[in-house]
Amino acid sequence: MTRDHLLFIFAMAMAIGVAYGQRPAFGRCPNVTAKADFDIDKFVGQWNEIERSFYLFESSLSCTQLNFTLYENDTMRTEVTYRVPWRGTSSVSSYRVKDVSMTPGELNMVLDGPLPSVIARMAPGSGKYIVLDTDYTDYALIYSCTDLRLVHADFIWVLGRGKDISVDARTIVYSTLDKSKVNRDRLLLTNNKDC
Ligand SMILES: *[C@@H]1O[C@H](CO)[C@@H](O)[C@H](O)[C@H]1NC(C)=O
Ligand SMILES: *[C@@H]1O[C@H](CO)[C@@H](O)[C@H](O)[C@H]1NC(C)=O
Ligand SMILES: *[C@@H]1O[C@H](CO)[C@@H](O)[C@H](O)[C@H]1NC(C)=O
Repeated sequence: MTRDHLLFIFAMAMAIGVAYGQRPAFGRCPNVTAKADFDIDKFVGQWNEIERSFYLFESSLSCTQLNFTLYENDTMRTEVTYRVPWRGTSSVSSYRVKDVSMTPGELNMVLDGPLPSVIARMAPGSGKYIVLDTDYTDYALIYSCTDLRLVHADFIWVLGRGKDISVDARTIVYSTLDKSKVNRDRLLLTNNKDC
């Protein structure tokens, strides 16, 4: 493996990382598992983004809120609302997850809209999101990772029912990431002031 090979692979990872909203790094995805006995009925509803891992395009977005709605046909709809500072307006992206009960705690989010599904799956934000942990009432820890042979690209999302999570919840979130061997140095606090 020459340096040029590595650079090429890393550039590919950057490109795919940008497509998936994930950050590239060397090595393979860590082995993570969804929360045991995950209960989707308790998980649905409104969440606020509290912390997230750094992502090129979205790092300056603020006031991100997620609204999960479960339908009787085992499909879940996720509405992500965020403020775009340079436009001073709010935007909404909508995702759908099919066959929610087939993979408890794993949400295969596909961007909703007129795009063909192959492209929709590549769109920013689309991908497999794993709920590593949640108490349903205070915090949720979500992780997404794509393996690309020698590199991987990943994304960490900390959500809260309120504008912030409790000190205890943050301790649990950080220790869960450490136990899962997910690097949490790059977590950024979301700006939830003036939302
Ligand atoms: C993840 O687990 C699989 C099967 O248990 C194993 O083959 C693989 O090496 C593990 N990967 C890492 C990064 O630990
Ligand atoms: C969440 O989404 C559902 C379905 O689109 C909608 O009926 C509900 O009003 C939304 N809730 C909030 C708080 O926006
Ligand atoms: C599931 O039901 C919702 C709400 O009725 C609908 O919008 C959606 O298209 C349905 N999805 C599938 C895969 O049937």
